Amino acid sequence: MDVTVKIKRFDPDADHPRVEWQEYPLSVDENATVLDALIVIREEMDGTLSLRCSCRSAICGSCAMRINGHAGLACKTKASESMDENGVIVVEPAGVMGQLKDLVVDFDLFWRKIEQVEPFLQPQGPEPEAEYIASNESMLHLSGVTACIMCGACVSDCTVLEVDPTFLGPAALAKAYRFTADPRDGDDNGVSRERLAALGEVSGMWDCTRCSECVQACPKGVAPMDRIMALRDQAMEAGFSNSNGARHANSFTESVGKNGRLDELKLPIQSVGGVTNIPAMLSYLPVGLRALTHGKVPFRHHVVADADTVRRLFQELDQS
Ligand code: SF4
Ligand code: SF4
Ligand code: FES
Repeated sequence: MDVTVKIKRFDPDADHPRVEWQEYPLSVDENATVLDALIVIREEMDGTLSLRCSCRSAICGSCAMRINGHAGLACKTKASESMDENGVIVVEPAGVMGQLKDLVVDFDLFWRKIEQVEPFLQPQGPEPEAEYIASNESMLHLSGVTACIMCGACVSDCTVLEVDPTFLGPAALAKAYRFTADPRDGDDNGVSRERLAALGEVSGMWDCTRCSECVQACPKGVAPMDRIMALRDQAMEAGFSNSNGARHANSFTESVGKNGRLDELKLPIQSVGGVTNIPAMLSYLPVGLRALTHGKVPFRHHVVADADTVRRLFQELDQS
């Protein structure tokens, strides 16, 4: 099978370091993965190509990169399914983390965020006589999240991290959930208020925009966004409702549940705690003015045809 691999290259040691695209036409087996093709390129065509790989079985997590614009494991992606009509596969380093050389990125940011969530059990109750025991049933729901292989694909494609490097990000938040949902962590009821409080700070769980990119990128079905939503539920249940994110969620729910539509004027005001929060209200001025000049301020609410159906659906969901 003929294929052309187009690779985004960068050599920091070159006389004039710059990012450039290079194309490699080659022949590979019908069942070859993108990683197989890259290894052929490195071993037979261009020994200067840098990439990370080890297990070649979607286990070690080292070969995450962007293939045709989306992050994934090169060893889990078939070349035949990645080619466009001209037989071209576009390969880039993972995003967000910074290109060190060719397809190798700097994982410092990734590990700093994992460390930030203190990724280890922190039991708070009295020490047991022997080991801490968790029942099988209480751990089953964690099997998905413990499948994380730390490949960084979710971080690479996170739309918030791309613009805000302070965001904890999908991998770290999914890792945090692995502990907040573990019955051995926190107090006797398995709740760690300190953890939930820290995760609810700015740049934490409430900063996720639910774009779902991390769910699509994750090669192990960890579904980080779903874990972040579960973290939010845990925080609300534990009474952490005094944050912009929690107020935003409450305002959204109340508005849709009561009126069958979203009140876009009230939402930002209630999210910051009301009009009395003068600094926050003033911070909205520039965006408010831009929205006004672009005809985006809803002075009158549009009539929603099926508002009653929305309300009914909402109530049914609420009771289920
Ligand atoms: S769903 Fe949230 S965490 Fe996942 S990629 Fe989007 S913004 Fe990032
Ligand atoms: S959550 Fe998925 S994509 Fe993110 S680091 Fe873990 S395995 Fe990789
Ligand atoms: S080489 Fe190990 S996950 Fe791809």
